[in-house]
Amino acid sequence: PSAIDQLVQRVEGLTLAGLAQKYPSTHPEYNSLDLYRAHLSGALSKISGVDTSIIFPVVMWTQSLEKGDFVVAVPALRIKGSKPDLLAQEWAAKFPEDDPLFAKPVLSGHFMSFFMKAGPLIQSTVPIIRQARKEYGKSPFHGLRDPKDQASGQKRIIVEFSSPNVAKPFHAGHLRSTIIGSFIANLYEACGWDVIRMNYLGDWGKQYGLLALAYERNGNEEELKKNPIDHLFKLYVQINAEMAIEKASIEAQKKEGKDVSALEAQSLDEQARQYFKRMTDNDPAVLAQWQRFRDLSIARYKAVCQPLHPTVFAADPEAGESQVSEAYMSEIAEKMKQQNITKEDNGAVLIDFTQHLPGKEGKRLGTTVLRKRDGTALYLTRDICELLGRNTKYGFDHMIYVVASQQDLHLKQLFQIIELLGYKDIAKKCQHINFGMVLGMSTRKGTVKFLDDILKDCAEHMHETMKKNQEKYAQIEDPDATADILGISSVMVQDMSGKRINNYEFNMDAMTSFEGDTGPYLQYAHARLCSIRRRVSLSDEELDSADLTLLQEEHAVNITRMLSQWPDVLQNTLKTLEPATVLTYLFKMTHVISSSYDHLKVIGSEPELMKARMALYDAARITLANGMRILGLTPLER
Ligand code: ARG
Repeated sequence: PSAIDQLVQRVEGLTLAGLAQKYPSTHPEYNSLDLYRAHLSGALSKISGVDTSIIFPVVMWTQSLEKGDFVVAVPALRIKGSKPDLLAQEWAAKFPEDDPLFAKPVLSGHFMSFFMKAGPLIQSTVPIIRQARKEYGKSPFHGLRDPKDQASGQKRIIVEFSSPNVAKPFHAGHLRSTIIGSFIANLYEACGWDVIRMNYLGDWGKQYGLLALAYERNGNEEELKKNPIDHLFKLYVQINAEMAIEKASIEAQKKEGKDVSALEAQSLDEQARQYFKRMTDNDPAVLAQWQRFRDLSIARYKAVCQPLHPTVFAADPEAGESQVSEAYMSEIAEKMKQQNITKEDNGAVLIDFTQHLPGKEGKRLGTTVLRKRDGTALYLTRDICELLGRNTKYGFDHMIYVVASQQDLHLKQLFQIIELLGYKDIAKKCQHINFGMVLGMSTRKGTVKFLDDILKDCAEHMHETMKKNQEKYAQIEDPDATADILGISSVMVQDMSGKRINNYEFNMDAMTSFEGDTGPYLQYAHARLCSIRRRVSLSDEELDSADLTLLQEEHAVNITRMLSQWPDVLQNTLKTLEPATVLTYLFKMTHVISSSYDHLKVIGSEPELMKARMALYDAARITLANGMRILGLTPLER
């Protein structure tokens, strides 16, 4: 029998099938804590007479191990007429000493804390993890508890993330979108979803007109060939600066009451607009130039994204603003006109949300242009058609846009327009996952380095640190690759440490430190577990046969309690969609592990004890690595 079967057998009268029938939302084969919760509900029901359907949902996690594994607040059981504190005392007294899974509850007022008994916990959890390996924590239920929701088969999600703009800097917003988006994609995949990772390139619009203009004026073929992106970027920065000066001067003259219409007609802005118009009109020469810049940029982004997420660009290289068809946009435009969603103003087409939504909501969404006077579409216009197109093409159950909070309004407008068009059901499936800014990393003025240079700096920084321990350094096969992974881990962990919505300061020294809750610390914790395993050189079979009853120390119990939470943490993360939910857990876990090394020595212990402890550390290594992989980190072995 499998480890979970053995655990089930400990409880008299319990079978997996019986459990599934009584608690249809539990999946003990994937999450052994479900069994604990179900059993606890049954035990408490016997004592209190309260139905399990009321108890089960209020069996809660605790904040820390000292507070138990589960806690029940007696008032949550809604028993009228009796004092909750007294009821807690009465039930605690009645709770059987010989319960197979739990010790007698510990009381604090009306809170009943339950601790899992060490023996069954360790003897089931360690084998469960070591059997499941990379699968430990994953489950095929889409994170939906109700089996009714599972009926329709596997669900599909599109996660759109990264989405940089061609020929413009890959800025911190794209970095965060890439980190958070790839995490969300991994998370949904681990919970059984069919995940489509999508990168919606910003490769269309007036700014390409502007870039082409810049190239026409100041470009240099030689330099472009030598270092395409740096050259294009230089031109981009230069023309933006010129345009800013020009704009300011026009403004100033306007203020003085001068007629600026001639100046405006010749302005860079106007020229860029005209150039873009030629693009949308399919002028072959102009399109060829655009294609060239686009290809060069994509090559660069691929290089930047490779260490962050290798599949970002592989996912759907076809997605991008340029791919939204003009014909489809006209069709939708016509529809919006028919339905009186849009109105014309001086040749432009706009939407005034206050006409459609009463009160605050309409005001908040304001008025926005969907088509300019020259007939060209805008960012929002393309997003509308892209969204509807994706729905037809992929038939998704859910779609997530991972985009900076600066675009909150844009996405609200987008989803609202979809609703106004009569596609409420489609709008309901769409979700914006936003995030705050990274401070101290601005690229706007071109004074700051490219993101890949920053990543290189972090890697170099890590490489220097590694060299400080010559003995260990010599053991690393590919120090450059290791330094790269450490560098990117520092950046990613710093990014994922806080709530998504918070801004944070880019701090190279803090994030590359091996001390504190950093990427390098997490990598170190993993590598240390790998190193123990290497040094004892026990085979998997030997570990399988370890006598786990030898693990009795509090440290062993606490490690196991932490490890047993992983499937729950993953399910909970699907609700928060916060990388910090996983990260906080992993740090808690690594702290419990690291404080145990002095107490649970492997090397130098009796052979049987060594095997048992090694099996425990092996389970810890597996769980830590699984968590790191969900976050998009590559666990290092040395
Ligand atoms: N390319 C855009 C930018 O850099 C982000 C795209 C977000 N996705 C979308 N469907 N609008 O600002």
